[in-house]
Amino acid sequence: GAAARDDASRPGGPADSPFVRACRRQPVPHTPVWFMRQAGRSLPEYREIRANVAMLESCRRPDLVTEITLQPVRRHKVDAAILFSDIVVPVAAAGVDLDIVPGTGPVVAEPVRTAADVQRIRPIGRDDVPYVDEAVRMLVKELGDTPLIGFAGAPFTLASYLVEGGPSRNHVKTKALMYGDPELWHALAGRLAEVTLAFLRVQIAAGVSAVQLFDSWAGALSEADYRRFVLPHSTTVLSGLADAGIPRIHFGVGTAELLGAMGEAGADVVGVDWRTPLDVATRRIGPDKAVQGNLDPCLLFAPWPVIEAEVRRILDEGRAAPGHVFNLGHGVLPETDPEVLTRVVALVHELSARPAEG
Ligand code: CP3
Repeated sequence: GAAARDDASRPGGPADSPFVRACRRQPVPHTPVWFMRQAGRSLPEYREIRANVAMLESCRRPDLVTEITLQPVRRHKVDAAILFSDIVVPVAAAGVDLDIVPGTGPVVAEPVRTAADVQRIRPIGRDDVPYVDEAVRMLVKELGDTPLIGFAGAPFTLASYLVEGGPSRNHVKTKALMYGDPELWHALAGRLAEVTLAFLRVQIAAGVSAVQLFDSWAGALSEADYRRFVLPHSTTVLSGLADAGIPRIHFGVGTAELLGAMGEAGADVVGVDWRTPLDVATRRIGPDKAVQGNLDPCLLFAPWPVIEAEVRRILDEGRAAPGHVFNLGHGVLPETDPEVLTRVVALVHELSARPAEG
């Protein structure tokens, strides 16, 4: 409520943190840094806590969600936490029979093919995901001044899992549906946009300081097709949250040609993968949005001097943007040495430190 928000925006509180300030294009004491997939298999403490608990089950237990979300904050001293969950959690809550299979990803029992399949995806609200509401409230208390990022999957990326039935390289069935039956496509994407919007509203009501919309696989589309088939639905989500007053991050992989359009969906920050330098990305996105990225996750396997040079380059290129949140260009790979991540956080802070004013 209003009291929680006032508390969050006190000087030094999460709404005044370097991460939220950078998202808002305000001056920061140092460039904030967090990592997509910072909670996960790269951490021994995560592997231990998950040893006997299935992925979806762990997402539905507020005590586990809280502990796993806090692990990388304690260890790496990142500037933001991201809620431990998965993009398919709200879709399962909406009635779709699915599982997250270790080493594979989301697998859907009966892939979506017809209008009746779309109709069966129910609208959701707080009572369909009480464990998310509870976990966010616990985390906001535990995190103190560190902001918590809420997230959801975007309609295209969610639709790809639902239509393919699982992970896919070329998204053939998804595109066949999109091009072959635009009416059914828009019904599906529209329904998923409503589920996603409702899921993010639950997280916002519970107190997250920012949200990220993951459209991981949108880079499979041309700009023209993205604008026609996807942008209206992602706009439903991001522009639909304008009244919440918290930063909205829009991220995808292989999206060099889509960066401008992804900003137009209603984002305050556009996530950039490692293929596009941040100064080039800023020209495409425009001066009214911050950028997030963009170290290649594979670079963390290179010798330290190589990593250090890349971090310097990214910080330099990020100065062309009106706000920069340091991150990887995609998620932390499970084999990553967590000590390297900790060193990267310290290096970003050291190289970007600006003396306090006055
Ligand atoms: O970033 C974080 O630390 C928060 C947690 C998070 C998870 N999934 C936990 C997870 C987030 C933000 C996601 C989002 C997600 N899930 C995306 C978008 C981000 C991206 O990577 O592009 C996508 C496409 C998914 C679907 C999904 N779920 C995949 C591809 C996988 C990996 C499959 C595998 O085992 O390699 C999952 C499972 C998953 N989600 C894991 C985690 C930590 C691994 C499962 C495990 O630890 O047992």
